[in-house]
Amino acid sequence: MLAAETNRDSFELPHAQHFEGFTVNYDELFTDEQVNMPLLRQRAFNLRWAQQPDDVLALTAADPDFPVAPEIRKALGDYVSSGVLSYGPAEGLPSFRRVVADTLMARRNIDCTPERILAADSAASAMFVIARYALRPGDEVIIFDPVDFLFKASAEVAGAKAVLCPIDSKTGAIDMDGMRKLITPKTKMISVCNPHNPLGLVLSEQDLRAIGEMAVEHDLWIMNDEIWSDIVFDPVRFVSIASLSPEIARRTMTVCGFSKHYGLAGLRIGFLVAPTDEVYEGLVAVSTAPTTAWGAATLSQVGAQAAYEHGGSWLDAFLRHLTKIRDYAAGRLANMPGITVRPPDATYLLFPDVTAYGMSSTEMADYLLEEARVAVVPGVAQWFGPGAEGHIRIAFPTSMAIISEALDRIEAALAKRAQAFGDVSRRFLPRAPDAAVDVVVRFGQLAGPPGLRP
Ligand SMILES: Cc1ncc(COP(=O)(O)O)c(C=O)c1O
Repeated sequence: MLAAETNRDSFELPHAQHFEGFTVNYDELFTDEQVNMPLLRQRAFNLRWAQQPDDVLALTAADPDFPVAPEIRKALGDYVSSGVLSYGPAEGLPSFRRVVADTLMARRNIDCTPERILAADSAASAMFVIARYALRPGDEVIIFDPVDFLFKASAEVAGAKAVLCPIDSKTGAIDMDGMRKLITPKTKMISVCNPHNPLGLVLSEQDLRAIGEMAVEHDLWIMNDEIWSDIVFDPVRFVSIASLSPEIARRTMTVCGFSKHYGLAGLRIGFLVAPTDEVYEGLVAVSTAPTTAWGAATLSQVGAQAAYEHGGSWLDAFLRHLTKIRDYAAGRLANMPGITVRPPDATYLLFPDVTAYGMSSTEMADYLLEEARVAVVPGVAQWFGPGAEGHIRIAFPTSMAIISEALDRIEAALAKRAQAFGDVSRRFLPRAPDAAVDVVVRFGQLAGPPGLRP
């Protein structure tokens, strides 16, 4: 049975199931003991455990600390032990494309066929392909601020300019009239991050409709990044912009991947969904897949296919675990003086406002690293846009033991800082106008070698 057919929206899978002759209790896969720290210290890069000193707790890149689902490991192992690792089809394995199309139709109500799914070597690379297809030098693309840096980076790789539409980080409100005013004759695309990294926001159907209608009215493309759409907490419901109307769907190119919910970041696997055959052909040509210079590894597609086909019980248990951690961590942060935090509706990211402590995001991240021995991602323009300043990003796809230890340490460090600084609960310092520039320069201290991402 497809994971898509066992949509968590409708009913829950049993917590224990038979797998390979054993009974697996999926909830037990998310206990403290399941986090294999020696292996993570060797293998988890991108600002995470392998790049931090041994006494530092890494709540940095959005990448789960738990071993991947047993069903995925089995599929990967079987494929490798069969011994044949030939070239695959340039556009992806037929079985992978079929399972992705079936899943999107069943779970997201996206009208698609396997022939319009292009396997990609990550969501990031799929975003770059869309940008190269839709944009020309000098074009403008509207992106949110804050938002993951890939939105700006993908616009710029095509020679286009990213124009920022603010989201209120406290309320999650998007100024739709403001977005409308950003449209000029140069605007070619609106890029949507839904659910939203780093705010943990699920866009409302009303906002999505407004964006879709704007795109129809002004003949714009929509880049629709749904990589977080399977990490959504009850009772919030996710709606895909590609499902809203045929007119909106026709101009929407959807991106998704397997790094966030199934923890397959190291397999570099994702896909693109094209709205029409013509767009599909264009995307394939731009990707250079037919030359074999680009494309998803067959092994990665096998793992991702197993995730969609057989990973539903594991994912449900992961969500139950994340819900507990979200509630615990957001509650604890909210009780720390001077910290404002919105519990995320989706993602495993917290994005607290720390301005009351009179430090820039980078200064706070540096301080927590030094004083608490906890690594977080500073809300700097380089990673999330200028609207992120004053925040830090804390990723929590880890064990309760690690999160509670990290929060104990953060709380103690903040109390120490508050003592030195005065009553933080009453202080809300104005931002220095050059803060964003300053912190980009300073971020090098935490970021390590260039080319890494949170
Ligand atoms: C919104 C968003 N899009 C894309 C990506 C990149 O995912 P991938 O690992 O598949 O390149 C991320 C990773 O954090 C993300 O948050």
